[in-house]
Amino acid sequence: MIREKKALPLLLAVSLLLALGQTAAQDVKRGEKVFTDCRACHTIDPGPNNVGPSLAGVIGRKAATVDGFRYSPAMKRSGITWDKDALAAFIADPQKAVPANRMPYAGMPDPKDVADLIAYLAQAGGSAK
Ligand code: HEC
Repeated sequence: MIREKKALPLLLAVSLLLALGQTAAQDVKRGEKVFTDCRACHTIDPGPNNVGPSLAGVIGRKAATVDGFRYSPAMKRSGITWDKDALAAFIADPQKAVPANRMPYAGMPDPKDVADLIAYLAQAGGSAK
């Protein structure tokens, strides 16, 4: 019994240390999985547009500026620059962030998923610009 009482805090401390060291890499890895939600319509390769515009270099980019993609008037008018906060708001609730935009996606309810996804986008060439 005494042994277990001592072991538990130690275990917690060790897992906390491990978690701290691995958070960043894990977030990106998790974010890559979360990107499954977007992959049907977006790539993170520069150039190719799909149903949605390429998300390469999206962080720091002005909205509706990928060459050759036909954006909705709402997206063109939005005046947004995709910093991490703007992206988070848009991914969480696209129609609230940019009313009448044409992205057929309902939104991502879990803030942790959103944060990890943005970590992935930043890592995967999302901050190339
Ligand atoms: C079913 C297709 C579809 C899915 C799924 C989808 N998108 Fe989109 N996305 C679009 C379309 C279409 C647009 C252009 C919207 C417009 O012009 O109003 C767009 C626009 C965007 C933009 C603005 C890009 C720019 O150049 O201004 C971002 C950022 C974005 N999507 C991110 C995401 C993310 C992140 C996900 C996954 C959580 C996602 N999208 C899921 C189709 C999709």
